[in-house]
Amino acid sequence: MPPTRPRRRIAAALKPVLNPVLPPVLMAVLAASLLAPPPVQAAAAPVNLALAGAATASSVELDRADFVAAHVNDGDTATRWSSKYQDDNWVQIKLAQPAAVDHVKLTWPNACARDFVLQTSTDGSSWTDAASVRRDTCPRTDVIEVRAGEPVSYVRMQGRQRWSSFGYSISEFEIWDAPPAPPAPTLGLLPKPVSVEETGGEPFTLHRNTRVLASGAGAQAPAGYLARALRPATGFGLPVVRNGRGPAPIVVEVGDGKGPRGHEAEGYTLAVTPRQVTLRAGTAAGALNGVQTLRQLLPQWIESDTPVATAWTIPAVTITDYPRFAHRGMMLDVARSFYPVSEVKTYIDAAAQFKVNRLHLHLTDDQGWRIAIDDPADNPSGIDYGLLTEVSGATAMTDRGTEPGITGYYTKADYTEIVRYAGQNGMTVVPEIDMPGHTNAALHSIPQLNTPGARPRLQPGQTTVPHNGTGAVGYSSFDADSPVTYEFVKHVLTEIAELTPGPYLHIGGDEAHVTSHADYTRMVDAFTREVAALGKTVVGWNEYAGTALPQDKAVVQFWNGNRQAVANAVNDRGAKAILSPAPHTYVPQKQDPRQPQGGTWACGGACGLDRHYNWDPGTYIPGIQESSVLGVESALWGEFIRRIGQAQYYSFPRLIATAEVGWTPQAQRDYTDFRTRLSEAGGRLTVQGTNFFPAADVSWRMKALAQPVTVAAGQPSGATWTVTAPGRAAADLEASVVWSDGQREDVTLTTTREGSIPDMRINAAFTATSLRAFDQAGTHTGTLSVRVPGEAPVEGRVTVTVR
Ligand code: ACM
Repeated sequence: MPPTRPRRRIAAALKPVLNPVLPPVLMAVLAASLLAPPPVQAAAAPVNLALAGAATASSVELDRADFVAAHVNDGDTATRWSSKYQDDNWVQIKLAQPAAVDHVKLTWPNACARDFVLQTSTDGSSWTDAASVRRDTCPRTDVIEVRAGEPVSYVRMQGRQRWSSFGYSISEFEIWDAPPAPPAPTLGLLPKPVSVEETGGEPFTLHRNTRVLASGAGAQAPAGYLARALRPATGFGLPVVRNGRGPAPIVVEVGDGKGPRGHEAEGYTLAVTPRQVTLRAGTAAGALNGVQTLRQLLPQWIESDTPVATAWTIPAVTITDYPRFAHRGMMLDVARSFYPVSEVKTYIDAAAQFKVNRLHLHLTDDQGWRIAIDDPADNPSGIDYGLLTEVSGATAMTDRGTEPGITGYYTKADYTEIVRYAGQNGMTVVPEIDMPGHTNAALHSIPQLNTPGARPRLQPGQTTVPHNGTGAVGYSSFDADSPVTYEFVKHVLTEIAELTPGPYLHIGGDEAHVTSHADYTRMVDAFTREVAALGKTVVGWNEYAGTALPQDKAVVQFWNGNRQAVANAVNDRGAKAILSPAPHTYVPQKQDPRQPQGGTWACGGACGLDRHYNWDPGTYIPGIQESSVLGVESALWGEFIRRIGQAQYYSFPRLIATAEVGWTPQAQRDYTDFRTRLSEAGGRLTVQGTNFFPAADVSWRMKALAQPVTVAAGQPSGATWTVTAPGRAAADLEASVVWSDGQREDVTLTTTREGSIPDMRINAAFTATSLRAFDQAGTHTGTLSVRVPGEAPVEGRVTVTVR
């Protein structure tokens, strides 16, 4: 549940406006009546005036026909105008008839301008500077706000300085008469439900007296989760009641026969009418999935942790939904760099809203050991298990990343708390003890494990191998010939099994490059037998697919390499598969070439959002049925990534792609449609305080919201708007307010946290504050318009009551 979420910037921005005025509940009622969104106006489609114009230029490179000016307005970015190799060249377009111009878009394929002026003219001889532009990258696209209200007949790019020794090259010179139409509304549901019918008409609106009725024993937890998720932003009490006297507007019903037939385990139906919200499921897990959908149907401001005044509407819909796969996982490598319990909870909060339901904890590796193990009563080799965390809880990755890896470990109470919290969020914990390779941290802390067959070998004078904080892999191994290995592993697995209510124990098994095949098989077979004896289902990375897996009770997690071996384990031993193919699920791989940190080996370059979305787990392993695929898992390894902010920056939005790959039927998945829905989620994540990478191929939508204020006559109103604009800098945004008396006020947008790709952070919400004072008592309204050149503006209306 969200209770441990950090205080969010949005709340800080809204608070000073809220407090002096009215109690939040009254404010929200006021807002619901006064702040209804303005009606969307149908505008004529914007026109690229350049297409009907005539282009001329001051020069043409080598006087070649394929570089003439006419190529800049032919609608084809494959052709271009290029100038001679001089600084002061120009290209211009004479419009077919005089027209108002909103913005100009110049596409430079190479040989850009470093410094140019965009000019307009009514007669082609006297010119007005619309904008001076200096930019130091190439190739690039410039969108330049012109907003010439008066008609012009010519638009010219007048070069000042070239970017290289060549001239200027422009492949398209677009002249638009209006900003684009606002993007079509989308419910923005992620992952996409199996069936959504927008029934239209009036929405349902949450009120201060809304109650939540929990019907059926399994309904209490999801109904409570819903109420706790909605209380902070609404400021409403939202009591959860067991049986209703009088109609309860939100009903959560859980019981046999309530879920979608054949999909009872995790399915749900959700019906929203103006009078009632009805969520039905066969299980608490199914109802929790419906709760996460319901959250996304509310305005993004619902994610604020302090009260916000707005209309809390839920559109009228009928949804039937259930997952394609049972396992929709995320792995957190806490071994290379540690995450304290509070950060794990934050990571859970952010992922649970997308119906991620497995948390795989990579608890041990060469660089560190993160889980406390007690000494057993029967301890033949006299191992001090406390050394695992005392010694190797204090080590971590030392090279790569923005700082050394974080050290630390979970006590048993910590781990139990993670398991509990994950469970409350619908997630099962899958603990991993990685063996027989990736074991340098165990060997570094436990002398008895350092027998002659173990690797690395002890050097003279050593009792344990040294710590190794590098990113090297495949150099460590337990000793297959030593009884201590089996004694140690049996005890560790026994303790982990006792702490773990979920059905799975992961034994790693990857990259054991210094273990002979015979030794590998001998050890892994013993470890899998141990897991089976503990009543758990064994999971291992795909290298272990060829070992003697217990029949019908093993899971192979594919990451890289031999897919046929996975198919053999499935077909010969009844194993199930979890798919984490590196190019499609490994989030430490760079998601954009502009990221300084991150790997590139999996995709031969950046592994963008599209790679994480566009694959089919049902056909990924040739020769197996989809029914043998348990599901998918996003993997966050710890070589580069430090602390929760970076973990979120690498995971989001690619983890959302994986969540949809695991949930939505393949036939209903479409990358363009996904990006449209995702464009709505950026503001939601911003309000929540979840860090994410503002992927360049998503048109992240802006939103603006104001809080009503009451002021004395003659005093600055201090009216404040909050604007979410993922991936934008303050310098990208232009904002002004038009007041009900006709006055226009330019306002500045500020943010407490500027986005930065090298620093791995998204910008926080922006704040705009009005300095306008009113002499007349009464009610005044102001409409903020925020604009990015070349994009549709967004608006937010405020009400100022002057006493
Ligand atoms: C792995 O990436 N070594 C599973």
